Amino acid sequence: MTKAAEGGAPMMKIVSVCSLSGGQGKTTTTLLLGRALARRGRRVCLLDADPQHSLSMFCGVPLESDQPSLLELLKGQGPALDAVYPVEGYESLFIVPSDDSLDAAHEYLSQTGVGATVLRRRLEALAPHFDVCLIDSPPQRSQLVLSVLGAAHLLVIPAESTVKGFASAARTLDLFYAQRDLGATQATLAGVLPFRDRWFGHSQSKESKLAQEAMRDEVGAAQVLTAIPESERYKRAVASGEALGESLEYPFEDLIARLGLGGAA
Ligand SMILES: Nc1ncnc2c1ncn2[C@@H]1O[C@H](COP(=O)(O)OP(=O)(O)OP(=O)(O)O)[C@@H](O)[C@H]1O
Ligand SMILES: [Mg+2]
Repeated sequence: MTKAAEGGAPMMKIVSVCSLSGGQGKTTTTLLLGRALARRGRRVCLLDADPQHSLSMFCGVPLESDQPSLLELLKGQGPALDAVYPVEGYESLFIVPSDDSLDAAHEYLSQTGVGATVLRRRLEALAPHFDVCLIDSPPQRSQLVLSVLGAAHLLVIPAESTVKGFASAARTLDLFYAQRDLGATQATLAGVLPFRDRWFGHSQSKESKLAQEAMRDEVGAAQVLTAIPESERYKRAVASGEALGESLEYPFEDLIARLGLGGAA
């Protein structure tokens, strides 16, 4: 496990998966990366920061209205660990789930006046228990997204390999750099992750190719990660909880190495 520079305390790496448009692969990336890391023995806490709560549903954690969730964790209501639930089928995979009530977080975060720092502060209580926290964010620019960026050590921006996907990555980068200039996040960009890369046999589709070229022009080739191919098999793996086969897992291996989470647990 990584040790913090001072004091030798264990350090939980916080990775935010953010992209300011719907359907860019945020939830897929968070879930499949989390499962891949848990299978490698890492203690992983997923965090569902999207009121649509698809990550919580994929993890099979339906909440009763009186059960603590991310909203209670954000508000500091009760011990943080009470909002952490195990994900069935994985020994070291956990989730802080959400439901529709998370919409109320926007008001809470804006009222505090320091919304961008709230999640980072609350996650300190989880740090001794996990190696990595992966945060799935909502698609709209909002107080929740600012808090998710503010909490991150590392930022991954999934972006569909289309014109819309490139625009989503560019918007997310603009917000990230603006927040960094304000000192509202200290995160490092781990990379832009091209999602739904389309191939016909051995030829990449023109749209995927152009979109990924635009991504490389925007952030530099080294910051564009190994693409996730368009495939029904990823969709099935997300929904069913089944493990990815070797051929499907390789984009996540690249991402894991980029996040500094490869090697022995
Ligand atoms: N490799 C893939 N190829 C094709 N479709 C995929 C692949 N992976 C995921 N999908 C589908 O793409 C859609 C969008 O993915 P996902 O839900 O991860 O995006 P998102 O950014 O979280 O969306 P939202 O902003 O709505 O939360 C989903 O319907 C998912 O089933
Ligand atoms: Mg999602």
